[in-house]
Amino acid sequence: MGTETKDDAAVYQMDGKTALVQTVDIITPIVDDPFTFGMIAFTNAVSDVYAMGATPFMAVNIMGFPVGQLPMDVLVKILCGAEEKAKEARCVIAGGHTIDDAELKYGLCVSGTVKPDAVYKNSTAKEGDVLILTKPLGLGILTTAIKKGKATAEQEEEAIQTMTLLNKTAAECAVKEKVSAMTDVTGFGLLGHLSEMTTGSKVGAVIDHERVPLLSGVVDFAREKLAPGGAYSNQEFVSPLCAFSSHISDETKLILCDPQTSGGLLIACPEKKSRRLIDSLRKNHVTHAVEIGKIIPSPGGKIEIK
Ligand code: CO
Ligand code: CO
Repeated sequence: MGTETKDDAAVYQMDGKTALVQTVDIITPIVDDPFTFGMIAFTNAVSDVYAMGATPFMAVNIMGFPVGQLPMDVLVKILCGAEEKAKEARCVIAGGHTIDDAELKYGLCVSGTVKPDAVYKNSTAKEGDVLILTKPLGLGILTTAIKKGKATAEQEEEAIQTMTLLNKTAAECAVKEKVSAMTDVTGFGLLGHLSEMTTGSKVGAVIDHERVPLLSGVVDFAREKLAPGGAYSNQEFVSPLCAFSSHISDETKLILCDPQTSGGLLIACPEKKSRRLIDSLRKNHVTHAVEIGKIIPSPGGKIEIK
């Protein structure tokens, strides 16, 4: 599987038993603390492996570092932060490559394995499935507010907790229930990634915006237009597919398109299994997991937001 499916990672079948899953992700700092940035970068990069239903086993670092402008200590702390989350994921970070760069950036190329017949795609959602989201939205907006010094310490802490929560447990619970489809919510925002799911699966979706979990303060920040540029371009990109009810505010539309760093999983789950899946997610510390809508017929992939 490569670029044609718009899925989360590349998949290569090695033999009858094993498929290799590979992904790469690199980000610029979104928090001041280098150790925390390293934790977020790993959690973000490994997420696509989990979204394929795969288990990560090895990663390599890629970093652009402004040599001479930042102390080397910063570099070490970033790598230590990544190492901490890699341990939790039981994934080895086996070296990598750093170049001198005017702007700091860091990410990883992560490899995982999965049985060839157990690859989870974003293009296999079925009519009648329930849509479950596992992390609250608003990370792009909140990190923009943090950078501008507008967020409180509690809001910053909540954002960090969310971005450093591995999608490992969420994916394991979803795989156990043999859900229909999954993907992770990242740069294209909830509606962007949902539109990949609906168009790829040749179905439509209806979202109940009041059920979508949000990080605290995000609505106010969105009203103040404290959103990353990507939120606006995502909105433009998905608007031909979306039908918003007339009572939906501009802030809500923006939040539904907000690009997420290390966002949650978006899972399409057969209705009869969804209660059990949400219970097991919540029991396993994926406390924000909630039903946000369902899959409906629509060959063109239309999304209704009510
Ligand atoms: Co992804
Ligand atoms: Co990615």
